[in-house]
Amino acid sequence: MSRGMRRIGVLSSGGDAPGVNAVIRAVVKTASRVYGWTVIGIEDGFEGLLPPTRTRALALDDVRGFLPRGGSMLGCSSRGHFAVRPDDGQTVRHERAYREAVASTERLGLDALVVIGGEGSQRIAYELSRLGVPIVGIPKTIDNDLPGTDLTFGFDTALDIATEAIDRLHTTAESHHRVLLVEVMGRHAGWIALQAGVAGGADIILIPEIPFHVEKAAAKVKEREAQGRLFSILVVAEGARPAGGALVYQDPGGSDRAPRLGGIAARVSDEIERLTGRESRVVVLGHLQRGGSPTAFDRLLASCYGSAAVRAVAEGRIGHIVAWQGNEPVTVPFERVIQQVRVVPPGHHLLRVARDLGITFAGDDD
Ligand code: F6P
Repeated sequence: MSRGMRRIGVLSSGGDAPGVNAVIRAVVKTASRVYGWTVIGIEDGFEGLLPPTRTRALALDDVRGFLPRGGSMLGCSSRGHFAVRPDDGQTVRHERAYREAVASTERLGLDALVVIGGEGSQRIAYELSRLGVPIVGIPKTIDNDLPGTDLTFGFDTALDIATEAIDRLHTTAESHHRVLLVEVMGRHAGWIALQAGVAGGADIILIPEIPFHVEKAAAKVKEREAQGRLFSILVVAEGARPAGGALVYQDPGGSDRAPRLGGIAARVSDEIERLTGRESRVVVLGHLQRGGSPTAFDRLLASCYGSAAVRAVAEGRIGHIVAWQGNEPVTVPFERVIQQVRVVPPGHHLLRVARDLGITFAGDDD
């Protein structure tokens, strides 16, 4: 165990995910009950490290009731001073913010910092750790697309919400003989669309990993009609795109804001209606997938991650991120996690299962 460790910080950065509060609770409980350390909560992600710093001490009483609560009681910040921004075709960092954050961790007397965050946030954590801040990361994103870990917390809850939405859309689609499309989150990876689509019994699933042909999706709707099924359900990841076509943005972003995907399901809906003559409707689930109470599974995973992160700090595994591999928590070096996103690989068994069940991805191989 690291000697002289007394005080650790914790922050949540990037988009929230159900289970952030359960992680914070586990960090505080493990740090104070097992090691007798003080925990300092940093507000609004890395932004809270900029002067004047925004922090609060978190004792056992402060995290009472945290387990089932959605959101982050410390606040999150997705696009602050630490984000990498495009500038004249180059990506640039706000170097001063990084220097100030390093100075703040020293001033606050933090012996280590636990960073709860997704891909972009763990990249910031990695840069700060290279500048000397002792950091352990915890993987958070409903997209479940971080490499080095089989699971990120928040994903299971999002999957449940998307599956329930598909169930509900089935009954109304069937009553009205309509095509119903549900757009789910997933910028680079189609894990939510794929798994909710299979769990909810969708007919067509469009994911970023398989560029689609809308004619093939329309053919599936027609095929079902020929079998007397006058309705169809499509699950569309926000990052899905037609073969040879582009991503659809609701906001292309700029130097002061990140691009926001959205609208692909509406485009597909128009095309399907045109090609099949069948009326269609679109539902965009959006942030409903991120809000609210975590599932039991996410509470467990979040608790395991919080406890594992504090133990990693105690055992000197700084510069690592806690992860889930097989059936247990492990730690992996930051370098492994920040390289790329974890997408659905072409040979993934669930793609085969989906096709076995009659679901099409409307791709080249379908
Ligand atoms: O990373 C999770 C995610 O839910 C993405 O799938 C989505 O594009 C993004 O966050 C939206 O986040 P925000 O609206 O907070 O920028």
